[in-house]
Amino acid sequence: MSLLEQIDKDRLPQHIAVIMDGNGRWAKEQGKLRVFGHQNGVRAVRDTVEGAVEAGISFLTLYAFSTENWNRPKFEVTALMELLVSTINKETKTLMDNEVRLNAIGNLSALPAKCYQQLQEAIKKTSGNRKCTLTLALSYSSRWEIVEAARKLGEQIKLGILDPKDISEEMFSTQLTTGGMPDPELMIRTSGEHRISNYLLYQLAYSELYFTQKLWPDFRREDLFEAIIDYQKRERRFGMTSEQVKN
Ligand code: IPE
Ligand code: IPE
Ligand code: MG
Repeated sequence: MSLLEQIDKDRLPQHIAVIMDGNGRWAKEQGKLRVFGHQNGVRAVRDTVEGAVEAGISFLTLYAFSTENWNRPKFEVTALMELLVSTINKETKTLMDNEVRLNAIGNLSALPAKCYQQLQEAIKKTSGNRKCTLTLALSYSSRWEIVEAARKLGEQIKLGILDPKDISEEMFSTQLTTGGMPDPELMIRTSGEHRISNYLLYQLAYSELYFTQKLWPDFRREDLFEAIIDYQKRERRFGMTSEQVKN
């Protein structure tokens, strides 16, 4: 039985979040510049998106560039932004063929104009696609989005259009950049690092975390399927006892 066939279609995670990590180390292993790793990460993105569609995943969120990544050497940041523009351009067809809707979260106004424009075009072009929503986290940091949400709510209170009593967990989550999406049931990080790196801190509260040693450029749909199969073997208890969950 193939890995895809081993996935229980009745117990799929609706939303999978990924920290695509290890591009630099992948390149270094081959005596190449870090940027070579980023270039080779594109194929992994395409394969993962297609795999997510094949498996029936409704939401896939990929961490592509963090707020902290702006602190990398200028050469690398510029190369990453250029790669983003050319990739979005080239891959829009893949998104259309697979009926994937593109979305982006993060402080997008910090992106170079060309990048922002290209992104908006692809978002518009794919907006009618319904199979899967692919969200790119770009210039994203979770603390940034939580503080932004708090600020927006503060402004509404100041204007007298919001009563602090009406702020609930549910309402608060709609103010985050992922508002309207279910929380990720599964979060995958490649490259063997065991940390969250400022990613979806609020949304990952009860997510199952899956770590793999694979470096991002080597990640393929089979690795995604393996992660889903592993997730399906777990018992999600949400604070309850195992007996409660089983009944
Ligand atoms: C992930 O790979 C891609 C981005 C953060 C943009 P890295 O560039 O972090 O690769 P490593 O972790 O240094 O190997
Ligand atoms: C997290 O990876 C951000 C992305 C994958 C875009 P990093 O490589 O930037 O994370 P740290 O610095 O190792 O925590
Ligand atoms: Mg890294």
